[in-house]
Amino acid sequence: MPINQLVHKACQARENAYAPYSRFRVGAALLSANGVIYTGCNIETSSLGLTICAERVALVKAISEGQSAFHAIAIASSTRKICMPCGACRQMLWDLAGNIDIILTEEDQPAKQMKLADLLPHAFNRQDLPE
Ligand code: THU
Repeated sequence: MPINQLVHKACQARENAYAPYSRFRVGAALLSANGVIYTGCNIETSSLGLTICAERVALVKAISEGQSAFHAIAIASSTRKICMPCGACRQMLWDLAGNIDIILTEEDQPAKQMKLADLLPHAFNRQDLPE
């Protein structure tokens, strides 16, 4: 799967963002291990705390379709500058997608690539919970 295709999908998904409050539109494209791409955009509500990020929308779509292994996620914002995933998304991606590649975009092009573990060092894990 070329990175450019994943980035293109993230940019397309951004078009569907519902962000009338922040006016910051985000798109994400998550690549599953069997090659299917799941996209997401941020969705805000008048009760601002109920907002969900593009990354988590893509992730819950994939999980709800039965996916359980992933390679990478691309993220594109409407400012065309790099958009780092928020802390909540980092934790949820870590728990459900593992140490995937994070592809950050600038001007709708791949700009930086890193591992999720680099963004969430010393992460909390399910193994930390009592048996
Ligand atoms: N947002 C995302 O969708 N992904 C991120 O990585 C950062 C933030 C959204 C949430 C909210 O709708 C808006 O951007 C401003 O925080």
